[in-house]
Amino acid sequence: MEKRLQELKEEVLQKIKATLNSKELNEVRVAYLGKKGPITDLLKGMGKLSPEERPKMGALVNEMRQKVTEVLEEHAEKLEQQAIAEQLASEAIDVTLPGRTVRIGNRHPLSRVVEEIEDLFMGMGYEVAEGPEVERDYYNFEALNLPKGHPARDMQDTFYISEEILLRTHTSPVQARTMEKKEGANVRIICPGKVFRRDSDDATHSHQFMQIEGLVVAEGIRMSDLKGTLDLFAKKMFGQDREIRLRPSFFPFTEPSVEMDISCFKCGGSGCNVCKQTGWIEVLGGGMVHPNVLEKAGYDSTKVTGFAFGMGVERIAMLKYGVDDIRHFYTNDVRFLSQFQETEA
Ligand code: DAH
Repeated sequence: MEKRLQELKEEVLQKIKATLNSKELNEVRVAYLGKKGPITDLLKGMGKLSPEERPKMGALVNEMRQKVTEVLEEHAEKLEQQAIAEQLASEAIDVTLPGRTVRIGNRHPLSRVVEEIEDLFMGMGYEVAEGPEVERDYYNFEALNLPKGHPARDMQDTFYISEEILLRTHTSPVQARTMEKKEGANVRIICPGKVFRRDSDDATHSHQFMQIEGLVVAEGIRMSDLKGTLDLFAKKMFGQDREIRLRPSFFPFTEPSVEMDISCFKCGGSGCNVCKQTGWIEVLGGGMVHPNVLEKAGYDSTKVTGFAFGMGVERIAMLKYGVDDIRHFYTNDVRFLSQFQETEA
C-alpha cells in the first residue's frame, strides 16, 4: 500500500506540472483529490489495515495530501502569473511612436501689414481708432466735404442699405467721427479697417478691401509735418534708401492734396517692370485737412490745422511681398498663406 501511495503521489505531481491553464489544473484537482478520486479510495481502504499500521498509513496519506495541495497551489500561482504576463504582452502599446506634428498657422499677410503700420505710428504717439463698416452717408461723404451730388462721389460708388446708410467706401469717416468726439484740438490717430466699393473684381480691384487712415489735428500742424511723417513711413516699410515724392492731387477733404510716390525698391529709380519704367511707385494719398472738414467737426479752422493720409493695405502688401493678384488675399489657399511664415518670435 505504501508503494501504491508513492506511485500515486508521483503521478499526481506530474499531472499537475503538465497542466497549461487553470481549467486543466482544476480537472486534475477534482480527479485526484475529489470524493471519487484515488486518494479518497485509499483512505476508505484503511479500514482493512491492522490497528498498528493504520496510524502510520494515515500519517502518510495526510502528508501526501498536504504535499499535493502545496504543489497544486504553487502551480496555480505560476499559471496565473503566466496568464497575466500573456495578457499584458497582447495589450502592450508602443509608446515610442513619434507624435504627429501639429501644423501651426501664421498671421495673414494683411494683418501683418496692419500691425506693422500700427506699431510704427503708435511709437509716434498715435492712437488706433475704429469706426463702423456700415456707415452713414453723413460721415462717409457729407462731413468730408462731399455734399450730395458732388461729382467726386462717382468714384466711390458703394452698396447702399438705404438712402442714408451705406457700406463705407474708405476709412476717412473715422476722421470725422473722431474729431467730433474729441474735446480740444489734439488728435493723432491711425484707423485700419475694411471698406467697400461697387467695383468688379480683378487682379487689382476688389469690392471689399482694407485701408489705413491717418489723421493729425492740432495748432500749428504744417505740410512739412505730413512730409516728414510719410518719409519716415516709406523708409520703415520699404527700406532706408527709399525717397518720397509728393505730387499735386485732388481729394475733397484735403487742400492742398497730394499723392505720394516712393522711389522704386526694385530698380532704385532707373526703371523696371515694378515701377513701369518710371522709377516711382504710387503708394498713398494725403494732404492738409480741408477747412470745411475742420469746421464741420466743430473746430475753428483759423486756429487749428491738420494733415491726413489714406492708403490701401492690399496695395502695400502687394508691393512689399511681390504679390501679383489681390484675390490671393481672400481665397484662403494655404499654399499662398504659408509663404508668410514668420521666423522672428
Ligand atoms: N479716402 C481716400 C480714398 O479712399 C484716401 C485718402 C486721401 C485719405 C487723402 C485721406 C487723404 O485721409 O487725406 O481714396
